Amino acid sequence: MTRRNYDIAELRRLDIAHHLPAQANYKLIQDLGGSRVITRAEGSTIYDGDGNAILDGMAGLWCVDIGYGRRELAEAAYEQMLELPFYNTFFRTATVPAIELATRLAGLLGGELQHIFFNSSGSEANDTVFRLVRTYWALKGQPERTVFISRRNAYHGSTVAGASLGGMTFMHAQGGLPIPGVEHVMQPYAFNDGFGEDPDAFAARAAQDIEDRILAVGPDKVAAFIGEPVQGAGGVIIPPPGYWQKVEAICRKYGILLVSDEVICGFGRLGEWFGFQKFGYTPDIVSMAKGLSSGYQPISATAISREIIATFRAADDDFVHGYTYSGHPVAAAVALRNLDIIEGEKLVDRVRDDIGPYFAAALKRLDGHPLVGQIRSLGLIGAVEIVAEPGTNRRFGGKEGAAGPIVRDACIAGGLMVRAVRDSIVMCPPFVITREEVDRMVAIIAAALDASAEKLRALDIAARQHAEAGL
Ligand SMILES: Cc1ncc(COP(=O)(O)O)c(C=O)c1O
Repeated sequence: MTRRNYDIAELRRLDIAHHLPAQANYKLIQDLGGSRVITRAEGSTIYDGDGNAILDGMAGLWCVDIGYGRRELAEAAYEQMLELPFYNTFFRTATVPAIELATRLAGLLGGELQHIFFNSSGSEANDTVFRLVRTYWALKGQPERTVFISRRNAYHGSTVAGASLGGMTFMHAQGGLPIPGVEHVMQPYAFNDGFGEDPDAFAARAAQDIEDRILAVGPDKVAAFIGEPVQGAGGVIIPPPGYWQKVEAICRKYGILLVSDEVICGFGRLGEWFGFQKFGYTPDIVSMAKGLSSGYQPISATAISREIIATFRAADDDFVHGYTYSGHPVAAAVALRNLDIIEGEKLVDRVRDDIGPYFAAALKRLDGHPLVGQIRSLGLIGAVEIVAEPGTNRRFGGKEGAAGPIVRDACIAGGLMVRAVRDSIVMCPPFVITREEVDRMVAIIAAALDASAEKLRALDIAARQHAEAGL
């Protein structure tokens, strides 16, 4: 393939003039002279227009599981575009890739999760959940069951329903969210909310908060509980053993639907096809996106139990919900080819038995670093917590969130793309990452921590001076 040359300075100027990136501070981007322009990628490496090669520790945005540059997916899109580039599913119509992908997903999910509704993004998958669940309860003759229980600091998307289901208060602050009928409870974030607590006691306390809220709302008003198996965007929050069993038991006790948001965890990220399989619980509904096509096409899916769809069928009326691009044939064809690769190359096994354990062992090398408070990982997702004092969860500057961006920027400058969530450096590399690349990731993080030490200590000094001045 001939490599194109770009005028990056001009593209940056146009980026500021016309393009609005997602979840961004437009003033900051302007001050920075425009975004970093990513021009190409191969394997687990992205390249920017300034000639930097950056190891992609985030698999794009938690999604490019099979790595970049896979011709098979380009060919699948090309072939499908020539055969049928688009047709909708509104007119009692379906396309071959949509039917085949639904069938394939039903097989991977197993059990009762045998019906698949397609959307284009994770947020839309959760919008589908929102309307479907409330409609289901209305059809069951329990229209008062409308309340969703979610967790603080959960991420379920950026649409009105997605951000409302999510528990990020800084998102709620924009647009008057959450919409009525969403209750947020404790997250199972032991490092912050249960530091030093016995894991079993903490799991019981976190689950109890769900039950307490159900009782406060009134069990006959609660429609569903939604949760990510591992909270990704919230900072890679891995729940303690037994937590999900307790959550499931509470949902069953009160007849509440259990929704597993597998937008990040699905398709092998945790070393099983789905997070609910890893943790051993049985959801009624599953949201998925990202790894479904490894990000090569925008496609998401909502998997729904037999019982729920039997209720819709018994009602014999339309579910008046759906998108122009629901079941888009090109996106579905690309997703199918992506699943062929995950299966053919045994990438889920690789995450579980090979590169996942290697990643965990490599991260362990950061244990004992004076700026590291905790290292946690499961499969190929992980986080490093930055603290001001070893053995504690004390934060630099006395405020969570000041240290993370400093270390993140040092990682990127060192050639590794990671994200900072408050004071955690989070990682989610492609399943095809090599051992050498994992070693390089860890070495870059270690160097970034060392290089940031002085700036981080300055946060503490500034906070102390601020306090002494009585400000
Ligand atoms: C668990 C979870 N749900 C939903 C979403 C929203 O997906 P999208 O950005 O495709 O709308 C995300 C995105 O990161 C996610 O991590």
